[in-house]
Amino acid sequence: MTPLDKALSDKVSAAFAQRFGVAPDLVARAPGRVNLIGEHTDYNDGFVLPCAIGPSTMVAASRRDDNAVHVVAIDFDNALDTFNLKQPIERNTDQPWADYVRGMMMALQNAGHALTGANLAIAGNVSKGAGLSSSASLEVAVGKAMLALAEIEIDHTRLAQIAQSAECDFVGTKCGIMDQLISAQGKAGHALLIDCRSLALTDAPVPDDIAVMIVHSGVTRGLVDGHYNERRRQCEAAAKAMGVAALRDANLDMLAAAGLDAVTTSRARHVITENQRTLDAAGALATNDLTTLGALMAQSHASMRDNFEITVPAIDELVALLQQAIGPVGGARMTGGGFGGATCARNLHRLGMAVTLIEENAVYTSCPFSNLVLHGSRDIAAQQFNYEAIAREGEEHGEDGEALLAIEKRGDAALLRADRYDPEIEAFFGNVFLIN
Ligand code: GLA
Repeated sequence: MTPLDKALSDKVSAAFAQRFGVAPDLVARAPGRVNLIGEHTDYNDGFVLPCAIGPSTMVAASRRDDNAVHVVAIDFDNALDTFNLKQPIERNTDQPWADYVRGMMMALQNAGHALTGANLAIAGNVSKGAGLSSSASLEVAVGKAMLALAEIEIDHTRLAQIAQSAECDFVGTKCGIMDQLISAQGKAGHALLIDCRSLALTDAPVPDDIAVMIVHSGVTRGLVDGHYNERRRQCEAAAKAMGVAALRDANLDMLAAAGLDAVTTSRARHVITENQRTLDAAGALATNDLTTLGALMAQSHASMRDNFEITVPAIDELVALLQQAIGPVGGARMTGGGFGGATCARNLHRLGMAVTLIEENAVYTSCPFSNLVLHGSRDIAAQQFNYEAIAREGEEHGEDGEALLAIEKRGDAALLRADRYDPEIEAFFGNVFLIN
């Protein structure tokens, strides 16, 4: 178990014991994800290339003798939600987090699984609203916990489909299958090429000398705010107008001939070109061709910005800074549904002096320098790095005088750089994840 997992597992188990007076029977876990490329292609029956990440959601669970479910949400001030499995499961408008739990129970039961009553304590360390699928990881973790309590084993792709239906049919976001499927099927050291029509999964090993870093822009977003469903409707309208089942089946010639309005054409152009980029990116990853991969990621971002119109200026700026830092070998792009959240970038360890992203790659944020907040910065201050002092003086030095962590101002942005491998540095930067 990684230190990150151990800390979370201890936390959910302790909160469970405190609330319910006994230790949990089990702790289920499901990871968040970062999508390397293939954005808004999943619900168009296309291709995606996500990786599971270290941060996850965990559910501590025990069986109850009745049909009640009692859920404590540690990340929401230990808020409690209770409902009964044998009565119609309704939305809980007061506590939006609870809808993912309730929706998952409803979807599992609709799929024919006989659940038992349960006490659950839930916590996660996937940044919420960052485009890293905290909600899918919550759904999948709840599903795993409930199935384990009922001693039911199901295929993980099936579990992902049930979780997707919880989100589409109960929560109301008409999402694709990507997030739930990678959360359920992801494995360490690998991305997964997913054919979202056949649900065929192809392992895409991430070579050891490549780092994937995720940088949170600090711009938060919500999927249920309507933009996502609107994009989906536009894609479906484009496919219908071209007489195909999904945009997966269209090409640019068909689009040119279709005579659609400018907005619909742009939306479809993004999806059609993004599908090809995703397949090409999987090929580039397989041959360790990071220059091609980087170019495809840059094209993906430009298409999300110009055709799909789901980026925001702060993210565009952040991506540009990252790409500048990485250079032509490797790439940067926004990841996830859009309108804020995180970006992901790829680079080679061997280009830098050291081993992890934080050491050899630069980590930029485009937020005003004075507002630069890294999750965990309090811990950094308390531990060996005095974050405030670094910000003032520029560098923190180790005993041998070597710079351990440096921060440079670049206009309004900040560059963080660590010059030698130290897992503690990595652990403290809660918004910068190394996943390979
Ligand atoms: C969200 C959805 C996914 C996918 C992405 C965009 O994460 O949940 O199904 O559509 O947006 O690629």
